[in-house]
Amino acid sequence: MYVCLCKGISDRRLHQAVAEGARSFEELQAATGVATCCRSCEPFARGVLHEALDSAGAAPQAA
Ligand code: FES
Repeated sequence: MYVCLCKGISDRRLHQAVAEGARSFEELQAATGVATCCRSCEPFARGVLHEALDSAGAAPQAA
């Protein structure tokens, strides 16, 4: 499922970025480019980040 239409990024890509080490929203943006255009996907992308961190057993970094 696409999360970010501007950049063509799926929830799977976000989960992959977390698996590769992204631990904050900023790191997720740097790794994937998500929410760097119109940013309308940001709230949902943040939700996917937290879900991915939970399933990875990683604590989110304070932003
Ligand atoms: S939909 Fe993600 S930046 Fe526009």
